[in-house]
Amino acid sequence: MADAPLNKAKLAVFISGTGTNMAALLFASRLKDAAFEIVLVASNVEDADGLNLAAIEGVPTFAHSHKGHSREDQDAAMEQAVLDAGADYIVLAGYMRILSQGFVERWEARMLNIHPSLLPKYKGLDTFARAIDAGDSHAGSSVHLVTHELDAGEVLAQVRVAIASDDTPATLAQRVKIAEHQLYPRAVADYVSRGNDPEFLFSKLRELALALPETHERSSHGSPGFRVGTEKSGKFFAHFSQQHYGSQHIAVLVKTSGMDELLNLVETQPEVYYKPDYYGASGWVGLILNRPNVDWDHIADWLGRSWRSSAPARLTKLLDAADIF
Ligand code: GRF
Repeated sequence: MADAPLNKAKLAVFISGTGTNMAALLFASRLKDAAFEIVLVASNVEDADGLNLAAIEGVPTFAHSHKGHSREDQDAAMEQAVLDAGADYIVLAGYMRILSQGFVERWEARMLNIHPSLLPKYKGLDTFARAIDAGDSHAGSSVHLVTHELDAGEVLAQVRVAIASDDTPATLAQRVKIAEHQLYPRAVADYVSRGNDPEFLFSKLRELALALPETHERSSHGSPGFRVGTEKSGKFFAHFSQQHYGSQHIAVLVKTSGMDELLNLVETQPEVYYKPDYYGASGWVGLILNRPNVDWDHIADWLGRSWRSSAPARLTKLLDAADIF
């Protein structure tokens, strides 16, 4: 087996039953260049089949029966095991407990689930019978982020499975399972890798930049950027830089107050800032986007500041006036 890249995402997988989706994730994690590794398989059912499979494969397991415990206590025990294992993400794979609100909030955007329907159709139970009864041509499965509302978080990926005229819920469930085993490892890998995906990073950046008043997108020297003001006389306040001029970074360039501030930022926080070639000379600093745990509020603050220093007075005056109140 190849050496694991240092930056593999660490997953804790929660199961209650057979754990075949967990097994699909586990074996996918053993393939060359896998984006994730499984550091824990945890269950609320002490004799869940999947725990045995994980143990055979040398993956740490944890079991804590929910019986006789409040929802909060059960979640606290599971969460402690996740923290002890050093997991970055929780992946639910047939975990049949509803989670407490605090737990869900603490793991917001870091907890995924797989649900056997083409969401938003058929949240909850009996999804196959409901799809057959409705006369649907296809059933399927969805991977989604977990939010406090059941099966309602952002859908990350789906797979469709044709329904045959003689399908029963049981026969359909079998084929959907096979499809899920393809879907889940891919969806998880894509999700945990998106912090290195220029397309994803750019779309987040664009959303923030274009939310500022009177802005538009424009390319400059082959890279996309954002300007404030009219199409005719606007000024750039942000440039997107994707491994430009030999740099390894995917970054947004924003305006500092000048060279002193720029050099100070780069010296004190080299994991966040760098001095870009060419643009650096005129006070643009690179804010690195392809790094773990990017704080998008921080990026938004910088965009706002850069916007303010480039915007025409008629726009900033309005904002200054608004600040007084
Ligand atoms: C899967 O069908 C999944 O969609 C649902 O629970 C089932 C778990 O199956 N949430 P398994 O334990 O992975 O075999």
